[in-house]
Amino acid sequence: VLGLATGSTPIGAYKQLAAWYEKGDVDFAEVSTYNLDEIAVFRTTIPQSYHYFMRENFFDHINIDLNNTHVPDGSNPDAAAACSEYDKIVAAAGYPDLQLLGIGNNGHIGFNEPDDHFSKGTHCVDLTESTISQQPACSTASMIAPSGLHHGHQTIMYARMILVVANGEAKAQAVHDMCYWPGYARVPRFVLQLHTNCVVVADEAALSLCE
Ligand code: GLP
Repeated sequence: VLGLATGSTPIGAYKQLAAWYEKGDVDFAEVSTYNLDEIAVFRTTIPQSYHYFMRENFFDHINIDLNNTHVPDGSNPDAAAACSEYDKIVAAAGYPDLQLLGIGNNGHIGFNEPDDHFSKGTHCVDLTESTISQQPACSTASMIAPSGLHHGHQTIMYARMILVVANGEAKAQAVHDMCYWPGYARVPRFVLQLHTNCVVVADEAALSLCE
């Protein structure tokens, strides 16, 4: 059971996995996936949706059964119902064995923006300017309300292992703070410091503030 993420950072991992599949080294026939988040108010088939992103960058290149792939339903006008439904299916799957995570420039994970409390299950949030500027999708006219559906901290922490990927200087402060800043007691975006099996894979630029 894999928890997957979108954004530009995981694309290399998806390409590598597809290459290993082509070579016959990995098999996705028994894999199920649960994506972390989705932009709200997008139809799932349009290019800006995370549904579309996942097919384009990963699912269409491997032997996964599309019925076993799951992304929150950003097209449901009743976002609360879509979130609650998504929570049920992730729980029924027993939560991810491995959760892949990117990190936003401001340290957000999924769409969990800097805040003063932990979030629980899947919920809908208004996106910050910083996050919107990182989404090419959000600049299109098809997005009426910049909001997103995503796993809360609790759901993320249920994963047996978390793999965070980060590239580039713009992520350096976020990566440093995620690993070392002692703010987790009151600022939840640092919650990953508390996970017992969290690995960070980053390039030198993203690690430049970590000693
Ligand atoms: C979006 C996604 C996040 C992702 C982030 C970083 O906000 N909702 O899950 O981690 O973008 O994206 P990138 O990897 O392109 O920097």
